[in-house]
Order: sequence, then structure tokens, then C-alpha cells
Amino acid sequence: MIDEILAARDGALARLAAVTNLADADAVTADLLGKKGPFAAFKTRLGSLATVDEKKAAGQAVNEATSAVEAAAAARRSEMQRAERATQLAAERLDLTEVMSRPTRGHAHVVTQAWQRLEDVFIGLGFQIAEGPEVETDWHNFEALNMPPQHPARSMHDTFYVDHGAPGSTVLRTHTSPVQIRVMQTIEPPIYMVMPGRVFRNETTDATHLAVFHQIEGLVIDRGITLADLAGTIEKFTQAFFGVDFTSRLRPSFFPFTEPSAEFDIRTPSGDWLELGGCGMVHPNVLRAGGLDPEEWSGFAFGFGIDRMAKERHGVADVREMYANDLRFVTQF
Ligand code: PHE
Repeated sequence: MIDEILAARDGALARLAAVTNLADADAVTADLLGKKGPFAAFKTRLGSLATVDEKKAAGQAVNEATSAVEAAAAARRSEMQRAERATQLAAERLDLTEVMSRPTRGHAHVVTQAWQRLEDVFIGLGFQIAEGPEVETDWHNFEALNMPPQHPARSMHDTFYVDHGAPGSTVLRTHTSPVQIRVMQTIEPPIYMVMPGRVFRNETTDATHLAVFHQIEGLVIDRGITLADLAGTIEKFTQAFFGVDFTSRLRPSFFPFTEPSAEFDIRTPSGDWLELGGCGMVHPNVLRAGGLDPEEWSGFAFGFGIDRMAKERHGVADVREMYANDLRFVTQF
């Protein structure tokens, strides 16, 4: 019987050594040391032994084996407990180094900076700021600007149509000029207003074209406004925005909503000409669409691309760089 006891003890120690988690350790311990376990069975069998000496020797062997297994079970249990606690701590660990390092400070995007400076400069020249909707009616974007349906100038604007209302009645505005109409319909002249905002053209992007970009529109309506006021305003703006060693010029051009129309260029101190935008005297049909009497009021309008201007000003080779959100680009401005 003593050999059986020793074999049972070795088997029990081997089972305990093999457990890999706390639940297993507890289950194996209960199995080995419980009422139905091998050692309880040996104790029951002691009574069947023939001599007192045999009983004494076997009893001592059972007690020693039981204490050895109890000690091993307790040791294994606390080992498993420690291991599980360590796993839990590792899983719940918080990386505080992120909180400890000082965050770097952001700044406005190069186009936002240009937008804000433009507003500042125009406010300095006595203008107010207005904004219009990005989703426009065909009427505001084209028809009220003297471009009735089928007008050939419409094809210059590759238009995104919005699935809303009657087919073709709603567009993503292709320029900020529709805000001219909204301003005329809302405010009594005299009007001295600039209207910056996002515009959309359905065209393939390349180094000089984006499908989503920004323009700023200018509108002046008052009594007796002439082309000289337009040229003077463009010149004053050029010097206030770019610097006193810059000048501007107007070149004849065509827009359906201005008559006469011109494009305006900026001359840099090194003598290069930079094409900036379009302008002209507000067409009588446009004044009428805005609810104003062309006999009483006259005015001028201009519009140009903010992204393009920022691109030229900073010598950016490809406009798409400005929206790639690459920090190596963005942090330069
Ligand atoms: N809306 C014109 C464009 O997008 C620019 C412009 C504005 C021209 C105002 C004349 C007057 O090209």
C-alpha cells in the first residue's frame, strides 16, 4: 500500500505542476484532496490492514503524502494568482507618455490664412462681409446672372447638379457671383460687400485646377459708380494686400453678368504679371434680377480664386499639395 501511496503522491504532484491557470489549480486541488480523492480513499483502506505496525506505517505515509500535496497545491495556487494578476495589469496598462509630452500647437491652413487676410484688408477698405449657400438654385447661379438656359457661357462652368427639386434646378454653385444676387435682394444700396466661399466645378483636378476651391466676390452698388471706381478699388486692394510696390491692370474680357468686363492682373516688384480674376460693371439685367433699378443704381463686381492666389503668392507648384494634408507642406505656412 505504501508504494501505491507514493505513486499517488507523485501523480498528484505531476498534475499540479501541469496546471496553467487558477481555475485549473482549484479544480485539480479539489479533485486530489476532496472526499472522493485518492488520499481519502487510502485513509478508508487503513482499517483493512492486518497489523498495527502496517496501519501505523501506512497512516504516516498517507499523512505525509497529503501534506506534500496540500503544500504543492497552495504554492501552485498562489503562483497562478500572481500570473493572472500580472496579465490583467498588462492588459489594463495606460500609456501616459502621450499625456506627459506637450502637444504641438496647430495653426490655420494656408488658404484659411489668405481668406482671413482678404477679409481684414477689405474691411479696412470699408467693405462688409456676406456669405451665401453652397447649394444654389440654377436661377441664382446662372439665370439671374444673365445666363439663361442654353446660354453658351454656361458650358464654361462644368456644373455639379444636385438631385433636388425639378431636374437641373439645383446646383453646387460654380462661383460666388450668385451671392451678388442674394445681397442685392436683401440689402438696400449703397452696398460695399465682399463674399468669400467655397465653389465647385465638375472637372478633373490637376496642378492648376481643383474641383472644390474658394473664391471671393466683391460687389459695390451706389449712385454714379463708374469703371474708374472699379480700377481704383482694385489698385487700392492690390497695394493693401500685396504691398505698395505692387500694381494692377485691367484687360478687356467677357462675362455675361458684367458690361464692360475685364480681367485684372497684379504686377509683382520683379515685373511679372499674375492673373488674378474677373471684374466689370454690373450688367443692367443683373441689377434688375437683384430687384434694383439700373436707372438709379450702378455698380461693379469682381471675383477671384483664393486658393490660386495663395498658390501664386507662395510659389506652390501644384494646388493639390494644399489639400494633401502633408505636415511637411502644411507647417511651412
Ligand atoms: N464669377 C467669375 C468667375 O468665376 C468671376 C467674376 C466675378 C467676373 C465678378 C466678373 C465679376 O470666373
